[in-house]
Amino acid sequence: MQTQIFKITDLEADKDKLKKAADILANGGLVAIPTETVYGLAADFLNEEAVKAIFQAKGRPSDNPLIVHLADVKDAEKYASELPETFYKLAERFCPGPLTMIVPKKECVPTATSGGLDTVALRFPSHPVAREIIRLCGKGLAAPSANRSGSPSPTEAEHCINDMFGRIDAVVDGGSCTIGVESTVVSLVGGKVRVLRPGAVTPEQIAEVTGEAEVDRAVTNKMNDNEQAASPGMKYKHYAPSCKVVIVCADDDGYRRFINEKAEDNAYALCFEEDTAHINKHYVVLGREEDELSQAQALFASLRKLDELGAEIAYARCPSQEGVGLAVYNRLLRAAAFRTIDA
Ligand code: TXA
Ligand code: MG
Repeated sequence: MQTQIFKITDLEADKDKLKKAADILANGGLVAIPTETVYGLAADFLNEEAVKAIFQAKGRPSDNPLIVHLADVKDAEKYASELPETFYKLAERFCPGPLTMIVPKKECVPTATSGGLDTVALRFPSHPVAREIIRLCGKGLAAPSANRSGSPSPTEAEHCINDMFGRIDAVVDGGSCTIGVESTVVSLVGGKVRVLRPGAVTPEQIAEVTGEAEVDRAVTNKMNDNEQAASPGMKYKHYAPSCKVVIVCADDDGYRRFINEKAEDNAYALCFEEDTAHINKHYVVLGREEDELSQAQALFASLRKLDELGAEIAYARCPSQEGVGLAVYNRLLRAAAFRTIDA
């Protein structure tokens, strides 16, 4: 398959390219598109064949449901059989933006999209290119992250090209994603508010709106083989580079000493900018120490960088779990297959 690349620098000037991408989607094709979180691999969510092609292109297990991206909160009624008050309250505060809400689905949402569940995940992205493409094609878009299943999510068009070239119809290049980790996924099913995946919208911010928000155990804990996942995505190997990642729990001095004295000579540090002047090994930077958003923005690109550099093992700083830091920690834990050491 020939993959077209459409570079967008201006919504007006590049209208023709946006229209071409939207036409491919309207006709059942697959297009990687930028969002404010990560790049998504989009297809018409009501077209079963197109949705199945997403799973094929990504190598994704078919029981892992997709998020439906809509331009307008009003459209939720068409696809949800029930919308609790919390849906409207959260939508008013955070949408469009990096929040995905899980609600009971209507019959019209195909099983392929919902991964066989009777619920549907709805998100209203804020990225102007994503919004314009949804508007131009006149369809809701199912869009998982546009990486091969299991590998780090794409935050640049180049990452999508590396993973998906020849497997999909087009990549829309809208530059770097500003958040860098996927949306917060919150379930509103059964009168409860439960965060299944942390993101830039924090559990504290959600609780301010809804009164309370539970955080699923799987966010920071490894699931047992016999445990049922509230979010099927939580049980799969995720975000992992080929390089082995180990999280080092320590303060600044402890981490630097560990890297300089204990780490193998060929090891990489996956460290904060502030560490770089104090370590004598190769390193890749994971943002700034007290700036969780900078860590979120850097995370997936830094994991890909380790592979480009041929790193075999990387020792990562343990991010704080404050704010968007919880999302960074959640992704890094999975990239490290839950390997942590105290130093
Ligand atoms: O920021 C994002 O959410 C990105 C961009 C492209 O929008 N998309 C994304 O999709 O991260 P994906 O497929 O990589 O992750 C979706 C997560 C998975 O963990 C999936 O299991 C969960 O959401 N999910 C989707 N529908 C669900 C449902 N009905 N019930 C429970 N979990 C669901
Ligand atoms: Mg993903």
